[in-house]
Amino acid sequence: MGAKGSLSVLIPLALQLWLSPVFATESIRDVSDTRNKPAIRGGIVYHAYCTLCHGESADGKARASKLHAVPELDLSKGHEYIEKIIRHGGKAVGKNEAMPSWQEELSEEQINDVIAYISIVKSPASRGEIVFKSNCVLCHGTKGDGKGRASTLFNPPPSDLTKSDKNDEYKKAIITLGGQAMGRSEVMPPWNEQLTEQQISDAVAYLKTILIP
Ligand code: HEC
Ligand code: HEC
Repeated sequence: MGAKGSLSVLIPLALQLWLSPVFATESIRDVSDTRNKPAIRGGIVYHAYCTLCHGESADGKARASKLHAVPELDLSKGHEYIEKIIRHGGKAVGKNEAMPSWQEELSEEQINDVIAYISIVKSPASRGEIVFKSNCVLCHGTKGDGKGRASTLFNPPPSDLTKSDKNDEYKKAIITLGGQAMGRSEVMPPWNEQLTEQQISDAVAYLKTILIP
């Protein structure tokens, strides 16, 4: 093959390589912008320090609620009150001292982040958005359209979840058990060890909100 012949093969190939990874998938910046939101970081803080007493949806149904009667979180009490009780504990606001003071334990950023998370903690779809953006975007993309950074590595590719024709039960099952158990690609991992049942239901509630009819 002469120089001209090999160029005619190489140029389209190079063009294809250049086009596909860049335009088919998101940039690392898209991913870090998505993950670097206060409420997303705050979700991690909340799960590590608050779920035990307040419960996953802040309804007071929690493992420790037999020890302390934790009321359902009342967001109408306003930002100032919420910030004060988190920083200084229940006693400082004339409430149950079983609510610890977090000033020493959490950084300034973590306190602001957990307050951002509390503002959405009662909405299943908003909690689910955080589950999704913390765990699923590398494959399914920040928008859920299947264009995540790792998507080009897999065949079949990660589903475009904005166009899914599956019902909520099916989605819950495949997220819990993984693709292989459902006769689909084993690349779709089972999440039953990393995520709670509540988090999986929340993710399914979020997926409903991104469907494009
Ligand atoms: C050891 C159990 C415990 C832990 C852990 C805990 N809390 Fe509390 N929290 C309580 C109790 C009990 C109350 C209720 C105080 C009262 O109303 O008398 C409360 C109240 C609150 C309130 C006020 C709610 C309202 O409606 O008045 C907020 C906000 C709050 N907690 C946030 C947090 C955050 C954020 C974390 C994690 C960083 C956390 N709590 C961890 C026990 C806990
Ligand atoms: C390592 C890549 C990867 C990750 C991470 C991943 N998925 Fe998947 N997912 C896939 C692939 C690949 C498929 C398509 C399987 C097939 O078609 O056989 C899929 C399919 C699905 C489906 C089925 C959709 C339909 O319409 O059939 C759902 C729902 C889903 N994933 C949700 C999630 C959620 C929620 C998360 C995060 C908690 C997640 N996935 C994380 C790769 C991934």
